[in-house]
Amino acid sequence: MRAVYDTIAKRRDVRAEFTGEKLDEQVLMRVLTAAHSAPSVGNSHPWDFVLIDDPQRLAEFATHVATRRQAFAESLPEPRKDVFNPIKVEGIRESGLGVVVTYDPTRGGPHILGRHTIDETGLMSAALAIQNLWLAATAEGLGVGWVSFYQEEFLADFVGCKQPVRPIAWLCLGPVTHLEEVPDLERFGWRSRRPLKDAIHRDHLGS
Ligand SMILES: Cc1cc2nc3c(=O)[nH]c(=O)nc-3n(C[C@H](O)[C@H](O)[C@H](O)COP(=O)(O)O)c2cc1C
Repeated sequence: MRAVYDTIAKRRDVRAEFTGEKLDEQVLMRVLTAAHSAPSVGNSHPWDFVLIDDPQRLAEFATHVATRRQAFAESLPEPRKDVFNPIKVEGIRESGLGVVVTYDPTRGGPHILGRHTIDETGLMSAALAIQNLWLAATAEGLGVGWVSFYQEEFLADFVGCKQPVRPIAWLCLGPVTHLEEVPDLERFGWRSRRPLKDAIHRDHLGS
């Protein structure tokens, strides 16, 4: 039981610590098996995993992400710009592998048990697959970095994803030198973690 808590505590979003070594195929399959074991609304498994390891394709996506990073940097007020500038937001090329997670709202047909009242439960299910992948990768001693600095249409075209299927995440996955103990955004002074006590309420939100 301790191992689960240890893995959760160890998990980090990784940008700079990828070694670039090739990921062992069997390890990759174990991690994807963990992702695919996630709970899903109506047992619909609405996710797919597109694996990209061609250095040219990784570079192409990284170039797109750089434009989105720049746009965000330009939108910031001066003091925040200075804090943001040194922060790395992706390790797309360095990781050597991108896992694009897609979400298919049609998976399982029109009568998904449990999604009739809350449509987002499909998307929530796909997010759980990502968390499973992230924790399994951490347990394997690997790093994962979630990249969301992209235009959805760009990534949809990039992986051949047609409406209504959506790409919902680019995950950099690969061997790392180490995992930092403190999240990068905290280390670089962007934003600190919120204390648990502020997130717990009794009976009503806010009390
Ligand atoms: C939905 C989502 C999108 C994210 N997008 C990015 C991103 O584009 N670039 C990045 O560097 N980190 C991204 N992150 C990672 C967060 O910045 C990170 O989880 C947070 O700072 C806490 O750090 P930790 O994961 O190491 O605990 C994303 C995380 C989530 C859950």
